[in-house]
Amino acid sequence: MFIIYGVYFSLFYFLYYVIKKIFIISPELRQIPSLPLIQTIQFNFKGYLAREPLLHVTRNYLTESANKRGILKYFDILLGNWIIVVTNPELMKEVFQRADAFQKSSQNERKTSVAELKFIGYNNILFEIKEAHLRHRRVSNPAFTHSWPPELFGNLAIELFEVMDKTAEKSHTLDVFHFTKGFTLDALGLAAFGYNFGVIRGSGSELEKAYLTAVNGMSDMKYVIFPFLEKIPRFRRPELMNRIDYLNDVILNIIKERNQNLKFKKFKKVNNDNDDGDDYDGPRDLLYYMLKAEETQDNLKSRLTTEELLNDMKIFLVAGHDTTAIALAAAIYFLGINQECQEKAREEAIRIMGDEKKNIIPNSEQIKELKYINMVIKETLRIHPPAPITLFRRAQKDTRLGEYAIKKGTMVLPHIYASHHSEKSWEEPHKFKPERFTNEKDTANKHLPFGGGNRICVGMNFSYAEQRVFLTMLVRKYSWKVTEPSIHKGELQVVPTLFGLTVPKNLEIDFERRF
Ligand code: HEM
Ligand SMILES: *[C@@H]1O[C@H](CO)[C@@H](O)[C@H](O)[C@H]1NC(C)=O
Repeated sequence: MFIIYGVYFSLFYFLYYVIKKIFIISPELRQIPSLPLIQTIQFNFKGYLAREPLLHVTRNYLTESANKRGILKYFDILLGNWIIVVTNPELMKEVFQRADAFQKSSQNERKTSVAELKFIGYNNILFEIKEAHLRHRRVSNPAFTHSWPPELFGNLAIELFEVMDKTAEKSHTLDVFHFTKGFTLDALGLAAFGYNFGVIRGSGSELEKAYLTAVNGMSDMKYVIFPFLEKIPRFRRPELMNRIDYLNDVILNIIKERNQNLKFKKFKKVNNDNDDGDDYDGPRDLLYYMLKAEETQDNLKSRLTTEELLNDMKIFLVAGHDTTAIALAAAIYFLGINQECQEKAREEAIRIMGDEKKNIIPNSEQIKELKYINMVIKETLRIHPPAPITLFRRAQKDTRLGEYAIKKGTMVLPHIYASHHSEKSWEEPHKFKPERFTNEKDTANKHLPFGGGNRICVGMNFSYAEQRVFLTMLVRKYSWKVTEPSIHKGELQVVPTLFGLTVPKNLEIDFERRF
C-alpha cells in the first residue's frame, strides 16, 4: 500500500515539478524568444528518445529559429530546465569573456556514472571552475604554447600512408574516420606523455584497448541517463572498471617515473627561449613542460596533485582525439566534394614543397606559407565544427547579456554550430568556401570552433599544427573523391555521441595515389 502511494506521490510531484518549471517562469526569461512548441517537442524527442544525433536535430529544428534574433530559449526535457541558446557572435563572446558571471555549469550538479568518475573525475582542467580551473590552466598554458615539431605529426602521417596503401591494395575505398582517429590518438599519446599507442600500426596495445573501452563505457547512454544502474548487481560493469584501473595505473606510473627522472637532473634557471635550463634528454612532451612549470611554482598550494595531473593527461586524450579526427575527416570530405578546392590545396603544397614523388614533412617555415590549406582548415571547422556546442554555462548572479536581463542560476549555451550557420554572420553559410578566410580580420570575431575567453580550447594551436602537417602531406600524396553512391551527398551525416561531437557516419572515400 505505502509503496503504491509513494509511487503515486513521486509521479505527481515529478509532474508538478516539470509543469512548474515550464510554465512558471521569471519575467527575465519571458523577454527572450522561445523555440516554437512543435520544434521543442521534435528537438527533445528526436534527440533523446529516438537518439538522432545532436547535429541533425540542431539543423532541423533549432538553427533557423535561434539565428532569427541570435538568442532563444527552449525547454530541455533531460536537463529539466530552460536553456538560453546564444548564437549571435557578440553575445557568445560576451559569455566567454565574462567567465565570472557565466561560469561553466559545475559538474558536481549532475549525477555522473561511476565509469566517468573513475575515468576522468571532476578535478580536471575541463570541468573545474574558478580558482581550481586557473590552477590547471596556469600549468597547462605554457606547456601548450611551445611550438610542436612537425616531425611529430609528419612521421605518423608517413606511417599512416603506408597502412592506407596496403589497405588500398584490396579496395580503394577507405573509411577515413577510422584512419584519422588512429592518427590523432597516436599523436596525442606521444605529445602528452611520450607514449606510442601504436594504433596506426595496429599493434593493439593494452593501453589502447583500455582507453577505448573507457571512452565507450563512459559514453553508454543508459548509464549517462540512469547513473544509478551501476548500483544494481546485474548492471555492474566490472570488466570496464578493471580496464580503467589498468589505464590509470599505467599513466600514473609514467608520471611517477618522469618525476623521478626530472628530479635527478636539477632544473637550472632558464636563460633564453631555446635553452630549457636542464640536462634532461627524454621526450619534450606536455607532461615534461607541466612538471617543469610545477617545479618553478613556489607556492605548494598552487601546484597540481598527481591525481589532477593524471586526470589532465586523460582529458587531453579525450578532448583532442575525436575532435581533431573529425576535423581531418571533414576536411577530406569537403575537399572530396569540392574538387576545385582540392586542386588549389594541392597546387599550394606542391608550390611550397616541390613535386618530388616522395613524402616530405613540411618544416616550420613552409608551414607558415600555407595560406590556402589554412583557410581550408578554418572553413571546415566553421561548416562542420567537431564540438557543435560548448559545455553549459550558468549565470552566477543577476546580470545582463546584451540587452537581456539574466537571472542568477539561468543556464546559457553558446551554440557554435548554429552561429556558424547564421546568414547574418556568414554569406551562404551552407556553402564550403575557404576564400571567406582570406582576411583574418573579417572572421576572427565570429569563427569560434574552439570557444573563447579563459576557457578557450587549450589544444587549439596543437590541433591546427597537426592538421596543417597532415593535410599538406595528404594532398601531395593522394587525390580523392567521395565514394558514390554516398549518404553524404547533401550534407555530412553523423552518428549520435555523448557530447554531441559531430563524428561522421561511414564516410567512404576513394583515394588514388600520386606516388
Ligand atoms: C579540432 C579540434 C578541437 C576542437 C574543435 C576543440 C573544441 C573545444 C571547445 C569548443 C572547447 C571549449 C569548451 C567550452 O568552453 O565549454 C574546448 C576545450 C578544451 N579542449 Fe579542445 N578542441 C579540439 C582539440 C583539442 C586538443 C587537441 C586538445 C588537447 C590536446 C584539447 C583539449 C581541450 C581542453 C583541455 C579543453 C578545456 C579547456 C578549459 O576549460 O580550460 N582540445 N575544446
Ligand atoms: C595560439 O597561438 C597564438 C599565436 O601564436 C597565440 O596568440 C594564442 O594565445 C595561442 N592560443 C592558445 C589557446 O594557446
